[in-house]
Amino acid sequence: MQILGVGGATLDIVNQVERYPAEDQEIRALAQRVARGGNATNTLVVLSQLGHRCGWAGVLADDPASRYILQELDDFQISTSYCRRYPGRKLPTSYVSLSQATGSRTIVHYRDLPEFSSKDFAAIDLEPWDWVHFEGRAPEETRRMIDRLKSERPLLRCSLEVEKPRHGMESLFSGPDLLLFSRSYARQHGFAELRTFLREMRQRTNACSIFCAWGATGAAVVDAGGRLWESPAAELPQVVDTLGAGDVFNAAVIDGVLRRQAPDSILAAACLLAGRKCGQQGFTGLGRPAGPGHG
Ligand code: ADP
Ligand code: FRU
Repeated sequence: MQILGVGGATLDIVNQVERYPAEDQEIRALAQRVARGGNATNTLVVLSQLGHRCGWAGVLADDPASRYILQELDDFQISTSYCRRYPGRKLPTSYVSLSQATGSRTIVHYRDLPEFSSKDFAAIDLEPWDWVHFEGRAPEETRRMIDRLKSERPLLRCSLEVEKPRHGMESLFSGPDLLLFSRSYARQHGFAELRTFLREMRQRTNACSIFCAWGATGAAVVDAGGRLWESPAAELPQVVDTLGAGDVFNAAVIDGVLRRQAPDSILAAACLLAGRKCGQQGFTGLGRPAGPGHG
């Protein structure tokens, strides 16, 4: 299937630390790596490994980090022809501390690039795509993009990731076929419990299915009829790297929906793939396992 992803690409500077430091403390990192990141491109990199043909719509600068992103996406056969370049600017950068003690990732993010706009999106031919995935970023712009998609190609299905608490995000809840929430969004809106959160969201959207990942606890889904399934997270001998686990989860969900699988099977497969990601560094090697029943 052909999937267009609209959202961010970042440079991630990842410090592995024994434990997260206290304010004003100085500690040494155990290891450091620099990687491509950003929710939408992380999700696309996994979708590409799951066998889909992907394109990315987002913004880049023209610095060495931006060139590195283009090369990385090219390595995963992700088309970058829709990306918008801003010369003289800097690629958004995330400074990430990965704690060995808890497996948590703490992110300080710097950004001075404009968002990918509805005007940029208007230049994209919607004909070739089977699915469009939006990372919910600038709600007013994203609303215009979804409206265009629904008016020009009403049968083209789309998903919306709702991770960051942005003013007006709720205005995007009508239109997408699939909503992908994060625990941080739920918590920031006062929900301490996954089931309660999903039941409440069910009242606020016409999306067919609503998924929400809940860290090491697992995840849940509620369908159009209000039926709810939960799945525990995968049990791992060692949590190596949780950075982008939610983005991997989202890729597996989109893949399952495109393959017309049942909500509970999609949920189980998404927890499995996200778990595999947490047991390893980065996003390579997250394709479909070979063997009977897969492929
Ligand atoms: P985010 O990357 O948005 O913070 P989450 O932390 O909610 O996303 O994780 C997404 C999914 O990854 C979870 O639903 C779970 O299936 C899996 N996951 C996250 N942390 C762990 C963990 N410690 N062990 C196993 N699986 C995990
Ligand atoms: C992980 C991630 C990182 C990036 C940050 C942006 O989900 O996409 O790769 O730096 O989040 O918010």
